[in-house]
Amino acid sequence: MTAEPKLLEPVSPEEASVFSRLQLDTLPRHIAIIMDGNGRWARQKSFGERIEGHRAGTESVRAATRTAAQLRLQALTLYAFSTENWARPKREVTALMSLLESFLIKEIPELMDNNVRLVASGRLDELPASARNKLSHTMSVTAGNDGLVLNLALSYGGRQEIVDACRSLMQRAQSGEIRPEDLTTDAFAQALYQPGLPEPELLVRTSGEQRVSNFLLWQIAYTEFVYLPVLWPDFRRIHFLDALEAYQNRERRFGGVEPVRR
Ligand code: IPE
Ligand code: IPE
Ligand code: MG
Repeated sequence: MTAEPKLLEPVSPEEASVFSRLQLDTLPRHIAIIMDGNGRWARQKSFGERIEGHRAGTESVRAATRTAAQLRLQALTLYAFSTENWARPKREVTALMSLLESFLIKEIPELMDNNVRLVASGRLDELPASARNKLSHTMSVTAGNDGLVLNLALSYGGRQEIVDACRSLMQRAQSGEIRPEDLTTDAFAQALYQPGLPEPELLVRTSGEQRVSNFLLWQIAYTEFVYLPVLWPDFRRIHFLDALEAYQNRERRFGGVEPVRR
């Protein structure tokens, strides 16, 4: 078992100022991020090649994971590749898959140092075999870590997740294991890809786009959305803290009339 990473210590006056306004006892347990804007970043930097943006974005993945671990969050879900992203040019898809593979291997020491357990959500059988193998390897190496759960959404679609849950429930009903009247919202949630994780309290999308793009459709029923203008490759700890501050300024009511703190 790995030791807990050190608690977050602000490194700039800007970080210290946001950090001092956060209430550490009411941070979200689970944050989900739509990592968007890699292509635009590459265009702005005049690399032209979209993949350069994806490559630079891996540094932001490391920063986000480390920050979440140092804040002792329970889970971080990162939208890395959607079911719709398969429609991108073959060159880009191939490059993304090879970036994923090298990330999965190179990142092991960092995951171990931060006591992070890697899991993945999506139609993983659609990934190339080499990516699947590296994914299982990194998941098994980090399986004993009991700090942050890093959930990578890969070949992930919210609608597909719901359909996959329905399929498994229908199979169980067909075999007589469950009856239609046993189905409740809680029982349904147990059939999703990560039944052990709480629903995300906060969803962040970078790059200024304000849409859900088929992410976690079931789980975001009461999630707070924070849209940040920063492009994903420029995302650093200060942006994470900014999103947390925005979240803590929200009043959540869950359909009632009184604010609920949880
Ligand atoms: C997000 O960045 C990464 C993936 C979807 C894999 P984009 O590649 O969507 O970047 P933009 O939106 O074109 O700038
Ligand atoms: C969503 O971003 C998917 C990921 C971040 C992996 P996209 O860039 O693919 O979404 P759209 O096409 O702008 O909706
Ligand atoms: Mg995009």
